[in-house]
Amino acid sequence: MNAVAASASRRVVRTVRGQPTSDGAGVKLTRVIGQRELDMLDPFLMLDEFRSDTASDYLAGFPDHPHRGFETVTYMLAGRMRHGDNQGNAGLLTPGSVQWMTAGRGIVHSEMPEQENGLMWGFQLWVNLPAKDKLTAPRYQDIAPERIPEAEPSAGVRVRVVAGRVGDVVGPVSGVAVAPLYFDVSLEPGARFAAPVPSGHNAFAYVYSGNADVGPADAARRIARGELALLERDGDEVLLSAGSEPARLILVAGKPLNEPVAKYGPFVMNTQDEIVQAIRDFQSGRF
Ligand code: FE2
Repeated sequence: MNAVAASASRRVVRTVRGQPTSDGAGVKLTRVIGQRELDMLDPFLMLDEFRSDTASDYLAGFPDHPHRGFETVTYMLAGRMRHGDNQGNAGLLTPGSVQWMTAGRGIVHSEMPEQENGLMWGFQLWVNLPAKDKLTAPRYQDIAPERIPEAEPSAGVRVRVVAGRVGDVVGPVSGVAVAPLYFDVSLEPGARFAAPVPSGHNAFAYVYSGNADVGPADAARRIARGELALLERDGDEVLLSAGSEPARLILVAGKPLNEPVAKYGPFVMNTQDEIVQAIRDFQSGRF
């Protein structure tokens, strides 16, 4: 390990446990950001984990629904999801793939499981757009699993780099306003990873398998599966380590927008007037 000044290493401010809920046409999921305990973490508006091998939990999927003013990021660990929108875009999300969708001025789309049994597991993250980009043209970055590079920054550590960089390994997601970092981190027992994170960008770690120690050695917190560690905003690295069991987590960061947020379901704008306009535009078929 490199010697690093202790002050550069971020501490855990608090932990948040996901809440069971359902969305779409009745899909059971766990809401981690966008719930009572953590309303948002600028620029992140929502984080859901969906994980079930009971088909009735997910089969109904997410039939046609709109989005305006932000981005949805779907990262699949297991299972297949079919995507299609009202502008003729379509695709199949397979295990290990990511879709970074910039809804911008508006799309109407569906996200439906393409399987009738077996495990469906992944995340959907909502990333806010700055005011100047809220009405931009919709854009898709559909990234197949083999296009997501893997870094091995230290012994027993594997990082799938979806967005951002680890050493020379650069993630494929580009041109996103908040300069996001999105790492899928696997730690073998005893492994340690000092993840580089730009100071001033909000960051969280969400453990989805095993448990991990997060934060500097003298102040590390044990984060269990299903818990999010909210990190302090300053400091240019996050220390992650596994105990006697392997651990897997996502580490996500982005530049805060510091703009007013007006939210109404799938519309996220800056003012209430813009929300009213979004509803009108959607209802009159202008998406
Ligand atoms: Fe959606």
